[in-house]
Amino acid sequence: MGARSGEYGSLRRVDGIGAPFFVLGLPLFLSACSGRQSALDVAGEDAAAISLLFWVMFGAACLLWVAMNGLFFFLSRIRPGQFPDRYVQPLLIGGGILLPTVLLAALLVWGLGLLPDQRAPGDGLRIKVTGEQWWWRVEYWPEGAEAPVVTANEIRMPVGERVEFLLGADKVIHSFWIPALGGKMDMFPGRETRVSLRAERTGVFRGQCAEFCGASHAWMAFETVVMEPDTFDAWLEAEAGDALMPVEGAATRGAALFLSQGCGACHTIRGTEAVGQVGPDLTHVGGRLSLGAGRMGVSTAGFTRWIGHTEALKPEVQMPSYDFLSTEELDDLAQYLVGLK
Ligand code: CUA
Repeated sequence: MGARSGEYGSLRRVDGIGAPFFVLGLPLFLSACSGRQSALDVAGEDAAAISLLFWVMFGAACLLWVAMNGLFFFLSRIRPGQFPDRYVQPLLIGGGILLPTVLLAALLVWGLGLLPDQRAPGDGLRIKVTGEQWWWRVEYWPEGAEAPVVTANEIRMPVGERVEFLLGADKVIHSFWIPALGGKMDMFPGRETRVSLRAERTGVFRGQCAEFCGASHAWMAFETVVMEPDTFDAWLEAEAGDALMPVEGAATRGAALFLSQGCGACHTIRGTEAVGQVGPDLTHVGGRLSLGAGRMGVSTAGFTRWIGHTEALKPEVQMPSYDFLSTEELDDLAQYLVGLK
């Protein structure tokens, strides 16, 4: 009996370490429960199904954990002969085999029923998103459209309507994920994958590349703006138009600088000579919420910082830092870009 008491003693010490770990770790777990990039702070039908699945799985796992450990401690503490075998054996078989099997099988069957029919073709708006290093090429295909409305690094969609995303990639695998709305879906070079999402409330939700894709994978994000359908239609119509030409001052000098510095070799600004396809379309870049694919907010100061220090802000980015431009020139460029609403 002496040896057995010693075993129980060591078990109790292990129990004692668990409590502080749990208390210290709890804020970490809870910090992910809300916010605009939380899969548990849902804003769409598809994310709601994933969230429900998570909570039920979590509850069932807790139940199973408590049941199994309770049973283990009870059985390890009873003395031989304290209870007749006919009581102990059903506990072992029921708790050790039957309960986990039945519970896990039930969860599997129920979980499979939640799988969305993601392969069904969409009947409304389709948005083609291509993962680039490290930004997002975005093309809107409204119903019946013959040519897309091209933009980048931001998704806008109408609330209450199912939108189909057609996903692809340029060179490496990326993954499309808007935690509050649903996903995620891998994006492959040379192959199209699809995900369909329906937002249930308006707001701004953050999307993030969820597949390691190189040095700046962590800086590959985007904002998703869910709008009232009327506001969305008006926005899309404006987005389809050419860029507004600045008429005077710094922005005019910036527009000239944009072309003379060769920015148009990589970027398109519709309505100008800039027709490059390598980098993000900048026709209405001033109207976006972020620049550099979620790297920072859109502002004159933001553009100045970005253009002058791309390589520091986004490691291995293809766009070189224009650190040879003067502060005035950077400001002129920034004034031009921020005015491209
Ligand atoms: Cu793109 Cu990670």
